[in-house]
Formats: sequence, structure tokens, C-alpha cells
Amino acid sequence: MTRRRPIVGPLLVVVAMTMAACDKRAPNTLDPQGDHARHIAGVWWLMFGLAAGVYLVVGGLIIISVVRGRGTEHGRPSRVGDNAFIWIGGVLVPIAILALLAVVTVTTTRVLDTHRKGALAIEVTGKRWWWDVRYPTFGFRTANEIRVPVGRQVAVTLESTDVIHSFWIPQLAGKTDQIPGQRNVLRFTAERAGTYRGECAEYCGVEHAKMNFVVLAVPSADFDRWAARHAQPPGVPEDELAARGQRVFLREACAGCHRIAGTPADATIGPDLTDLGARRSIGALTVPNDRDHLSAWIVDSQAVKPGNLMPPITLSKADLDALVTYLESLR
Ligand code: CUA
Repeated sequence: MTRRRPIVGPLLVVVAMTMAACDKRAPNTLDPQGDHARHIAGVWWLMFGLAAGVYLVVGGLIIISVVRGRGTEHGRPSRVGDNAFIWIGGVLVPIAILALLAVVTVTTTRVLDTHRKGALAIEVTGKRWWWDVRYPTFGFRTANEIRVPVGRQVAVTLESTDVIHSFWIPQLAGKTDQIPGQRNVLRFTAERAGTYRGECAEYCGVEHAKMNFVVLAVPSADFDRWAARHAQPPGVPEDELAARGQRVFLREACAGCHRIAGTPADATIGPDLTDLGARRSIGALTVPNDRDHLSAWIVDSQAVKPGNLMPPITLSKADLDALVTYLESLR
């Protein structure tokens, strides 16, 4: 009869954790789904392979030296008899490895910056603590959700109006800083349709950890349909409650910070709300986008995401209800 060794339990936990880490839904640089991330993952594996090789050789030499011990049978100290060992192992091999990595890194950097014909321009500005997203070709704006066509390069111009942020979609592209007064361009092509999580990778203040976004990579035809629809501003709401909500929005403080295309509200301090009803989350992936969370956010967003720049809004229950109906109708 075989007894289960105590090691099996912890081993299973490690295997389970590793499998969870490989979950496709989690942001993972070693699960590239775009050309940019694939090149970076390639460099990572090369570095890992070389480092592992050096580790094994050095580790092996240490084991050999321990086994052989200090002395020989004749009492003479054991030593490497010629300088070739030092020249090869200590000088030539490190130079060769570093030179290879330098060439690969520089080549990869150039490849990553290659502009492809027909690339889609997108402008993303990092704010405290959310992302303003503009599609200059189509003239519309959104926030925290970036839709891109599969198989077509996107050239994302990255800016910041306040502090330094860093734009990172682990499965699609490497990190690129967003620096006030500077425009950096990140180019990548999503290779497969899917929803990819992005995050701010540079500490930027109290809500840095809740400064996330999603990239929705969709087939080209779906993207074109979506873009054509979004280039048209939403009309006047037909629903009576939503129409009242629109009046509340324009009358209250909301319109002082937010924009909704097709209405007089044209401020860009807070996120553009033109397609708010279609978004999955509120507060840059802080809470799901539904009636309850949206109501709670409007009344006191500080309780949901402390430190964000939106003040609490005092509304009657009926006005709040109408406002939420209006905002959720925007798609
Ligand atoms: Cu923005 Cu961290």
C-alpha cells in the first residue's frame, strides 16, 4: 500500500496556482495576443534561456568543485591549469551574450516602431485616474474602453495632462509612459479577437491601482459598424424619464465636467459619457456599470473610489432615477 507523502498537498496547490496564473483572462505578458507583445515575449524567452544556461553551467561547476574538494590525492591544491578558462568563461562568453542581447533588443525596438499602412489612429490621454480615448478619424470620444479592429495596426498617441502615467496592455503591447507635454506613439496589432485588460503601470497617485481599462479587439467589419454608429451623436431621448434625466444632467453640475455629443454639454474634465450605457464598468474598471452602481457613484463617488476628482451630487430620488435612466440609455 502506498502512503500519500506530505509533499503532494503543497505540490497540488503550486500546480493549481500556476494554472490560475496561466488563465487566459488574466493579464499575462507570456500569453501574447498581438505582434508587439509577441516580440517582447520572444526577447524575454531568449533572456530566460541564456540566464538559465549560465545558471546551470555555474551551478554545475560549483557542484563539481564541491565533490572534488580542495586537494588532490598527491596533496596538491586542485586548480584550473590555464588562463583559457578565465578568458572564455569570464570574458568572451559574457561579451557574446551581452552583444547578442544588445543586437536583439535594438532590432526588436525598431520593429516595434514600424508604422504600417492603414494604421488606425487613436489618442489616449491619462487622467487622474481614468483614460480619455479619442478616435480622430471618426471624431468621437469615449473613456476607459478602447475598441480596436483585429489584424489592423493601431497607432496610439499617448499623452497626459497631469502626472506621469504608463499605458500597458500585457497581452497586446509593452508599457509606454504618458508624460505631460510629450506625445509618445505606441503601435500594435491585435492578432485575435478578445477582451484584454490594460492598466496604469506607473504610480500616479492615490487611485493608481484603480486606473484600469479594457481593449476590445473585434473583427474589422464589427469595428467599422461600431465606428459608423458612434460617429452619429445620440438623438433626443424618446423615453419620458430619460428626457427628464437629460434635463437634470444639463441643469446640474454634471454638464460642467462631462461631455455628451449632441447636447450642449461639452466639458472634458471628466470622462466623455456619450456611450456610457454601453460600457462595462464605471470608474475605470472600479465597479460594474449597472443602475445601482451608477446611482451610488453619482451620489457619492468618493465612497466608491476615494480621492477621485468628482464631487458628490445631491439630487432628489426622482431626479436621480431619471438621470440614471438617461445615462444608461446612451449607447
Ligand atoms: Cu495612472 Cu498609475
